[in-house]
Amino acid sequence: MVSSLALWRDRKGQVSPLRVATLAVLLWPALLGIFDASRGALGGRPLNEVIHRSGWWALVFLLASLAVTPLRQAGGFARLFDVRRMIGVAAFCYAALHLTLYVADQGFNLLKVVGEIVSRLYLTIGFVALLGLTVLAATSNDAMLKRLGGLTWRRLHQITYAIAVLGLVHFFQQTKADITQPTLFAGLFVWMMGYRLLSRASEGALGWPSLLGLALLAAALTFAGDAIGLWITAGRPPFLGFLPLYVGALLDPDLGIRPGWPVLGAGLAVAALEAFRSRRRRVASPRPRPIPRAAAS
Ligand code: HEM
Repeated sequence: MVSSLALWRDRKGQVSPLRVATLAVLLWPALLGIFDASRGALGGRPLNEVIHRSGWWALVFLLASLAVTPLRQAGGFARLFDVRRMIGVAAFCYAALHLTLYVADQGFNLLKVVGEIVSRLYLTIGFVALLGLTVLAATSNDAMLKRLGGLTWRRLHQITYAIAVLGLVHFFQQTKADITQPTLFAGLFVWMMGYRLLSRASEGALGWPSLLGLALLAAALTFAGDAIGLWITAGRPPFLGFLPLYVGALLDPDLGIRPGWPVLGAGLAVAALEAFRSRRRRVASPRPRPIPRAAAS
C-alpha cells in the first residue's frame, strides 16, 4: 500500500513528475519566506509581511484548486485531477499559518485575538473562511470519502465556492488603496463560476464558442468592477467625467495593466485551446462519409 504521506507517488506507488512539480510549487512560498527571513529581507515589519504573504498564497492556492476542473475539461489537462486535493490542502495550510502568524503578531494574547476577530468584520469573514477550509482539509482523504459516500462528500466540498467568496471579500476589505489584485482574482473566480454554471446547464464540457462568450463576459464584468472600484477609491468624482479617464487608463500601458486584460487573456487562451483540440478530434476521427445510394442497395 502507498503511504498517504508519500505525496510524490501516485496511486500505483510510482513517483509522479506532476506530483513532484506540484509539491515544489506548493512549498516554494514557505521556503522563500524562510530564506527571506534568514537574510533579513522581509522589510521593516517582517511579521506583517509574512501575514500578507501567507494570506495571499492561501487564496491563490484555493483559486488554483477551483481552476482544476475547467483546465481538465476545457484545456485537456486530465491528469491535473490527481493533484487537486494536494492544492486544496496547501490552501488550508497557508491559511492556518496566516492565523498563527497573526496570533504571534498580537503577542499570543488569545483574548485579544478573539476580541479582534469578533469586532472587525474582515477578520470575522476570514475566520469563517478558515473554518470552512478546516472542514475541507479534514475530509480530504480516502477514508472520509468512503465514510461520507461520494454524493455527500461532493456536496460538502461545494462549500469551496462560498469559502473562495469569503476569502475574496476578506482580501478586498483589507486592501486600503490598490484594488487591482483583488479585482483580478475576483474576475478569474467569475470566469470559473461561469464555466461551472454553463457546463452544468449543457451537461458536459463546453465548446469553444461558449468559452469565447464566457471570456468576453468575465472580462467585461472585471473591467466594470475595476472601474467602479477605482471610482470609489478616487472619492466618487462625477462618473461621466471619470469614465473617459478609465478608458484612457485601459489603453495606456504606463498606467499598469488593468485586471480585465489578464482575465480576457486567460479566458481566450482556454477557448483557443478547446478550438484547437476540437479540430484535432475532428481530424483524428472524421465523420463517416454517406454511402452512395446505388452502392447501398
Ligand atoms: C482567522 C482567520 C484570519 C485572520 C485573523 C486573518 C487576518 C489577516 C490580516 C491581519 C491581514 C493583514 C491586514 C492588514 O495588514 O491590514 C490579512 C490579509 C489577508 N488575508 Fe487573512 N486572515 C484570516 C483568514 C484568511 C483566509 C482563510 C484567507 C484566504 C482564503 C485569507 C487571505 C488573506 C489575503 C489574501 C490577505 C491580503 C494579502 C496581501 O496583502 O497580499 N485570510 N489577513
